Amino acid sequence: MRIPLIAGNWKMNKTASEAAAFARELVQQNMTSPAVEIVIAPPFTALDSVRHALEGEPSIRLAGQNLHWEDHGAYTGEVSAPMLKDLGCQYVILGHSERRALFREGDDVIQKKLAAAFRHGLKPILCVGESLDQREAGRTTEIITGQLKGSLAGFEATQLAELTIAYEPVWAIGTGKAASPEQAIPVHQTIRRFLQQEWSPAVAQGTRILYGGSVTPQNVADFLASEEIDGALVGGACLKVESFASIATLAQKRTGH
Ligand code: PGA
Repeated sequence: MRIPLIAGNWKMNKTASEAAAFARELVQQNMTSPAVEIVIAPPFTALDSVRHALEGEPSIRLAGQNLHWEDHGAYTGEVSAPMLKDLGCQYVILGHSERRALFREGDDVIQKKLAAAFRHGLKPILCVGESLDQREAGRTTEIITGQLKGSLAGFEATQLAELTIAYEPVWAIGTGKAASPEQAIPVHQTIRRFLQQEWSPAVAQGTRILYGGSVTPQNVADFLASEEIDGALVGGACLKVESFASIATLAQKRTGH
């Protein structure tokens, strides 16, 4: 059984002290349950203060928003997997469309980052998604499978046991225009079929596939109503305590807990 995952990607928001205060408020929301995994990804600079604020609430887990593929060395401005692990991260977001578009990350680089995450026991949340032009040109399947092929090249089925994939159509991110479940579900099915063909039915059945792109408390239940959608990667709506907490609570309802 795949346990739903609700992940909040804070992007470049909140100072370390703002983040700690926010995390303390989250803890007071009573939004955790064994039925849903909750992950938050503050900026690197806030990981330590958030970790301390979450002490006593182990069911809100920490993620990095990115990492460098090497463990250490002359890479000014970069942060490695061992550094994230040491700060208590269990997850890392990789291949986000903002990294792909603004920082020119290609699938080969994302593959190396995934390898670093697997090597150090960080669970990657790999983002894939097509642009509006690509969707309108009927290229969604080609783009998504191309991203998966490139970034997952060479990994064993055992490594993929720790993988979560997030389908995030680029045109839905930060626009307030979420995909409809009818648009998202076929892509989730394509991803699962790809995992089955390239690895095994067990990998396909075991891998969580989240939806991301303008998820809100108002639309999250529509996504989670589908067996194909194993949770959400939330940007804008995770920056307010109430909206992130209600998304987490709605996800519990889906599981009946
Ligand atoms: P959004 O961002 O929820 O603000 O659209 C999602 C994301 O970038 O992961």
